[in-house]
Amino acid sequence: MTTELTWLGHGSWAIKTGDHAILLDPFLNDSPTSPVKADAVEADYILVSHGHFDHVADVASIANRTGATVLASYEISTWFETQHGVKNTVGMNLGGGIDLPFGRVKMTVAHHSSQLPDGAYGGNPAGFVLTLPDGTIYFACDTALFADMQLIGQGGIDLAVLPIGDLFTMGPADSIAAINLIQPRRVAPAHYNTWPPIEQDAGKWAERVRANTQAEPVVLDPGGKIIL
Ligand code: NI
Ligand code: MN
Repeated sequence: MTTELTWLGHGSWAIKTGDHAILLDPFLNDSPTSPVKADAVEADYILVSHGHFDHVADVASIANRTGATVLASYEISTWFETQHGVKNTVGMNLGGGIDLPFGRVKMTVAHHSSQLPDGAYGGNPAGFVLTLPDGTIYFACDTALFADMQLIGQGGIDLAVLPIGDLFTMGPADSIAAINLIQPRRVAPAHYNTWPPIEQDAGKWAERVRANTQAEPVVLDPGGKIIL
């Protein structure tokens, strides 16, 4: 089996593992950096970390076109069902996991906020750990640095995906501290360079990762891929 991740810009990822297509936080049509539009992606499952527009924008249209199952906080999954007619949802909450045909999805703590675009309450923001046959991925999603990242790392993380944009999430300096708590084998940055307020120099970030952590940095352009 192979598992391939494609960065779709911002916090959006496409994961192909075996025969399964998974999307995380698809924000495509209105993203200045997405290499694809929402009508061109495939999905069996869509993971949603929190309610902000730059994470939920294209979820309903993709789910309603493909029949994909949406995994999100209980509040967000209910919102997609009742407000957007999404048929297949799994409501989760922090610390909970579910075994699916492609592997296990666990919802982890994130320190952020989660109001939905229409003002509805989105529950708590989250990250995800995906335990796949080819390895384990931790998507921190939109979050500040927190010391319990060390606990998440204790299970062994092959690839951590961390925000580095600053302003709305942790920035480069805190991401170095996060890497040293998580101790992943490889680390990829996300949630940066979408708009001027979250511009970062990913090359410089990679140098800091190499100098200050044991992890191997993987910097992608939108559309770039990582083989797990
Ligand atoms: Ni957010
Ligand atoms: Mn965001």
